[in-house]
Amino acid sequence: MTYDVSAILFDEEKIEKRISDLAACICKDFESKTPVMISVLKGSFIFLADLVRSLTIPVEIDFLAVSSYGNSTVSSGVVSIKKDLDVDVTGRDVIIVEDIVDSGLSLKYITEYVKKHGAASVSTCVLLDKPEAHKDNIKIDYLGFEIGNDFVVGYGLDYAEKYRNLPYVAVLKEEIYK
Ligand code: PRP
Repeated sequence: MTYDVSAILFDEEKIEKRISDLAACICKDFESKTPVMISVLKGSFIFLADLVRSLTIPVEIDFLAVSSYGNSTVSSGVVSIKKDLDVDVTGRDVIIVEDIVDSGLSLKYITEYVKKHGAASVSTCVLLDKPEAHKDNIKIDYLGFEIGNDFVVGYGLDYAEKYRNLPYVAVLKEEIYK
């Protein structure tokens, strides 16, 4: 699998350090609160697992799945719910946990969805952001890293369901998906 990547952008050490900084900010901002962390499947499962283990405040965890990409490297722009929330977010402080923001359409949709369900506050925590690809104004409260327009895999991120288990974030070689 490692032969399919052209460069490692963020190795395990860099990711761990950044997550510990993000966790410290979240703990400070949500001191004496119990936010609901909503992990957007599947890409954010590793990020969520590492992030919540760095938190020293109590949290609840839930999962949401939306579809927008399929097996393509380009967002279709159409977002729909594939797995709904189990927790009632009415009156709760919610932190949406995403692996990557590309067009931003998924995060925008999910933020609105959670607000519509009566959350007291909605924050966003994103590992990777591609600002050049945004198609709207996107609010990211806790951001790991900004990246360019490369197609990245690993640390939860896939191409056609592969590479999620790589322990680092890497650029996928173009010949794999072109
Ligand atoms: C990816 C990623 C985000 C979304 C970002 O999910 O996890 O949810 O795309 O793209 P956007 O900013 O253009 O909306 P994907 O649909 O690939 O599913 P996955 O998490 O199961 O891999």
